[in-house]
Amino acid sequence: MVNILAIETSCDDTSTSVVVDGKVVSLFISSQKEHNEWGGVVPELASRTHLKVIGFALKKVLQDSSIKLSDLNAIAVTTEPGLVGSLLVGVNSAKGLSVALNIPLISVNHIEAHLLSVLIDNKVEFPFVGLVASGGHTLLYDVKGIGEYVLLGATRDDAAGEAFDKGAKMLGLGYPGGPMIDELSKKGDPLKYNFPRPLTNKPGLDFSFSGIKTALRYFLRDNFDNQLLTDQNLYDVCASYQEAIVETLIKKTLKSCKILGNKRIVVVGGCSANSRLKNLMSINCKKKNIEFFTTKPIYSTDNAAMIGIVAYEKYKSKVFSDLTITAKSNMIRAKIISNKKAT
Ligand code: KG4
Ligand code: ZN
Repeated sequence: MVNILAIETSCDDTSTSVVVDGKVVSLFISSQKEHNEWGGVVPELASRTHLKVIGFALKKVLQDSSIKLSDLNAIAVTTEPGLVGSLLVGVNSAKGLSVALNIPLISVNHIEAHLLSVLIDNKVEFPFVGLVASGGHTLLYDVKGIGEYVLLGATRDDAAGEAFDKGAKMLGLGYPGGPMIDELSKKGDPLKYNFPRPLTNKPGLDFSFSGIKTALRYFLRDNFDNQLLTDQNLYDVCASYQEAIVETLIKKTLKSCKILGNKRIVVVGGCSANSRLKNLMSINCKKKNIEFFTTKPIYSTDNAAMIGIVAYEKYKSKVFSDLTITAKSNMIRAKIISNKKAT
């Protein structure tokens, strides 16, 4: 049996998980509420809060799995990309445990973990087109196999989740905005107002979400004089705004499939919890005879279970790290993330 303790602290969720032979046995996630009043993540607050929570998170997940420290075979941790101060809390905890227990350390890329999170509760064959849509990233990959990821497109400015979060802030809905907009949109008309679908009529597979957010700002100023909206107006604005983000994501993902001749789509990352995105993607895929996979919401947003899944694959290939690993902020434009053993 291979018992892996995984740690994820790249942004504002402190998460730990025990993964046994590639199966998630226990998972702990503490989502920091400290950022709500600021309408976005405050990096300094995030790292301090990780530091407060990490000890409890490690103990809890071991207790829940009934796996003792001495039963562990490896410690896995997210090393990139993310907020450096936040990542360092997880990285240093992992190093300490690896030294104390004399077991291997496995560094995991957060984007690769999102991509493979779909394998936690699905059996998906390769290759597939993978859309990672979260608060920090909007990336399209041609996923040829484990460790073989070719970047097809990325956002040129804001991530899809940022468009949700900043839009929600303008509407006075608090942070994180995605779940709130998702909920309110259920009572609204997605066709009531027309927000832009940036770059959808242009060649290429990149995204741009900053224009949608600006369009919402001017729309609120011009139509509602920045005054409070009635409940129904709010629902309609949410639904129409959400529709623009969701349609943009779907169009580019389907376009990738067409270009590659691929018949399999995987949507992961925080925004993949969005009910309209899942519905509309599923309808479109059925029409085009494309298989569509996503994860449960708990595995969509940041979590250590997905870190453990990647780590298990690396463990099997004996891809271990040494104590020189450190935290890296960004590698959004990386062409290939590879977990193949260096030869
Ligand atoms: O993957 P994640 O937890 O963190 C990053 O790696 O960034 O994603 C968080 C993002 C936030 O922007 C949040 O608003 C968005 O995911 N999100 C959603 C939903 N649930 C979370 N966006 C739209 N609809 C949702 N239901
Ligand atoms: Zn993430």
